Amino acid sequence: MNIPHRPRRNRKSQVIRNMVEETSLSVKNLIFPLFLTEGNNKKIEISSMPGIYRFSPDEVLKEIEACMNLGIKSFAPFPHFEENKKDKFATISYSKENYYLKTISEIKKYFPETCIITDVAMDPYSSDGHDGIVENGEILNDETLTILGNMALAQAQAGADMVAPSDMMDGRVGYIRTILDDNGFTNVSIMAYTAKYASSFYGPFRDALDSAPKAGDKKTYQMNPANKREALIEAELDEAEGADFLMVKPALAYLDIIKMLKDNFNLPIAAYNVSGEYAMIKAAAEKGWLNGEKTMQECLLGIRRAGADVILTYFAKEYAELNN
Ligand code: PBG
Repeated sequence: MNIPHRPRRNRKSQVIRNMVEETSLSVKNLIFPLFLTEGNNKKIEISSMPGIYRFSPDEVLKEIEACMNLGIKSFAPFPHFEENKKDKFATISYSKENYYLKTISEIKKYFPETCIITDVAMDPYSSDGHDGIVENGEILNDETLTILGNMALAQAQAGADMVAPSDMMDGRVGYIRTILDDNGFTNVSIMAYTAKYASSFYGPFRDALDSAPKAGDKKTYQMNPANKREALIEAELDEAEGADFLMVKPALAYLDIIKMLKDNFNLPIAAYNVSGEYAMIKAAAEKGWLNGEKTMQECLLGIRRAGADVILTYFAKEYAELNN
């Protein structure tokens, strides 16, 4: 046959396939989210996220040490709080008694070379389970900013390297930037949850934190999954307000958004491979319907190929173990 162009020649051996590989993925690109809980000696598996746990502060130090030995250096801790610690204004989020803040300081004391990315949003501390203050069923924007500012400052004081507002209130990046700067934390970065969609994929995370909304949904602040151009508006605002990273969340159903932000902005792009995306692969693998390890690697590679510089993923440790 006369076939002058045979793309298969570039796939004929592993050496050549490796040589022409366009996308690379390494543990350097991964951020490992961690769930914390108060107390001692606790490591409680999340039933909808096999292999993922809520750790008490003593246990999380061991987990971080194990991850560091695998080359994972960036962590995004999220706090679980008992219902009786929550109130309408998330007061505990910036209180000196907050075990989450104390744990951040401990982690940075024992592992100063880590990058610790803290979560700024009211939901884990809110008796309403929303990311902002709820009044008559409405989520108040500007009143919420005050609380987010207090929270971000407390996290910076505790030693966070980056704060990551996941709340989707308008103006929060600029508001937090100003508060950090006014208090001397010009070096603390902001990883903005820029295009965060009102997604069904967050279910297992809400199980992990017991943080589901008590009433209503998050559609007045998180984005409509049908919308793409709106992500450009959010990204322009976050960039102008001083964000250091732009994040897209979830990742797999939003690869076009990752690519669009990558093409239009020069800031590093983060993608959050969320809890439901983890749970789906784990569930199918448990049933023997998919090869979990290979599917996971393919998904992470796809997120990178779409343009993510960094990926927050519950698979980080497993990936590191497989590729060490
Ligand atoms: C809330 C927050 C959520 C996640 C990260 N921060 C859930 C939500 O918005 O309800 C989800 C992460 C995941 O599903 O892995 N501020």
